[in-house]
Amino acid sequence: MSFTPLTPSHVPLRGGRRALLRMATYPADSAGLLDLERAIVKARQGIVKYPDELPDDPTTYGDLQIRAGMAATDGSAFCMVAEEEGRGIVAEASILRLTLRMVRHVAVLGIGVHPDAQGIGLGRALLEALLGWVRDHRDADGGRIRRVELHVRADNPRAVALYRSLGFQEEGSRRGLIRRDDGNFVDDIGMGLLLPDPDEPSASA
Ligand SMILES: CC(C)(COP(=O)(O)OP(=O)(O)OC[C@H]1O[C@@H](n2cnc3c(N)ncnc32)[C@H](O)[C@@H]1OP(=O)(O)O)[C@@H](O)C(=O)NCCC(=O)NCCS
Repeated sequence: MSFTPLTPSHVPLRGGRRALLRMATYPADSAGLLDLERAIVKARQGIVKYPDELPDDPTTYGDLQIRAGMAATDGSAFCMVAEEEGRGIVAEASILRLTLRMVRHVAVLGIGVHPDAQGIGLGRALLEALLGWVRDHRDADGGRIRRVELHVRADNPRAVALYRSLGFQEEGSRRGLIRRDDGNFVDDIGMGLLLPDPDEPSASA
């Protein structure tokens, strides 16, 4: 392992709730993460999948995640989950780096909060912890992540507001990318966050 594992921490949420934020591990978290994604996809908000486009079982789901690089512990993936006591995984957030050397400083962010746990501060808590973890990471050769990017549906104002509040900027739209359940098309917005190098205060990226 060449990255520092995330130190688990409890965070207070609105409504007197609280959650444990910790690193995700595969295959141990496969079942909880698949259940979470099923619930989010079923709610039909913010996502680009139909329920039948998800794997049927946790093993297949975990295998796909591992093949996508999500289980890497070499600093190419940073995956977190949030657990509520007695309930299991209620949210996840992940950052996966691009692999080619010229774009190795770029990472793609994804996040999902269970519909029953949305709007109580969990998304913000997860992303603050995830971005902090990533900002602190250094590769063995001193390299680090300098750009985090994501794609978000234009009809997902909560997500756009959250990303903006964390410093992400809109960088353009792919018009009509997504066909909604009602048959209408919606744009997909690209957003990016540059992480300045603390050792080079004058640099913008
Ligand atoms: C989008 C998502 C990640 C946000 O997480 P969350 O836990 O629900 O959001 P939080 O409670 O942390 O709120 C974060 C911010 O969203 C904004 N927000 C919350 N509800 C909002 C609403 N109904 N409309 C607009 N903005 C809203 C606020 O700016 C809030 O900031 P605050 O901390 O100052 O109140 C979560 O709702 C989710 O997973 N949705 C379904 C899947 C999805 O959309 N994933 C992202 C794909 S790009």
